[in-house]
Amino acid sequence: MNVILLGPPGSGKGTQARRLAAALGLVQLSTGDMLRARVAAGDEIGRQAKAIMDRGQLVPDDIIIRMIALRMAEFDCRNGVVLDGFPRTVAQARALDRMFEERGLRLDRVVVIEVDEAALVERIAGRFSCATCGAGYHESFNRPRTDGVCDACGGTRFIRRDDDRRETVRARLGAYRNETAPIIPYYQDKGLLRRIDGMAPIEGVARQIAAAIGPAPAEAARPAGRVG
Ligand code: AP5
Repeated sequence: MNVILLGPPGSGKGTQARRLAAALGLVQLSTGDMLRARVAAGDEIGRQAKAIMDRGQLVPDDIIIRMIALRMAEFDCRNGVVLDGFPRTVAQARALDRMFEERGLRLDRVVVIEVDEAALVERIAGRFSCATCGAGYHESFNRPRTDGVCDACGGTRFIRRDDDRRETVRARLGAYRNETAPIIPYYQDKGLLRRIDGMAPIEGVARQIAAAIGPAPAEAARPAGRVG
């Protein structure tokens, strides 16, 4: 099973991708996490990407496509992947088609997580993650079971992302509208797209995703004012 989770910043792609990967034994491929690892390592890609990410813009397609193609070629990805944050442009979507084709694999489903814009900003502003294992939390909606202790690994140090400042979040939403949303019709035309209500609590969103990647339900109508 190969699945793309698509949605604006803060819609819950990372939260749901981690759950889905664990539930179905898939590899989670997050280009955002990969880039942040490169930034932390201080390598060439990390140095190029840092300033772009801090401005809330998209890293150039050639860098991203090369990075994901190398990872997709690794053996574990043959068992299935959940892509979180990739593709983000039509050029990336086309490159992904070629990667699947070359390996004799196919994309099964693209799930768009739709969330009201005001909620996105609140979710991003309250987000933090474990510095040790990367597990994601939220000050109001998703706190660790014991304050100050990571549920997943017991770590006690937490971090916030540099690009979660309010001005940068606005730029990231703009990049989503202008460059990423146009890939929705690309997948709609292929009959792979399902839209889900990302305003539900985390468990409810997970149930909708499970239903969307199972036997194909009809595509739901999008409520007015939703971003996705
Ligand atoms: P990336 O890391 O992909 O960031 P993003 O797309 O902006 O998405 P986020 O990670 O902010 O949000 P999310 O949807 O994963 O939400 P989360 O689960 O954390 O990319 C960062 C940057 O890297 C980009 O700006 C770009 O520069 C670059 N980049 C990455 N990929 C690229 C590509 N392919 N091409 C070019 N450039 C690329 O949830 C958010 C918060 O809400 C959490 O606190 C969570 O606990 C909470 N939450 C989640 N679900 C719910 C819910 N249902 N109800 C209440 N709270 C919830």
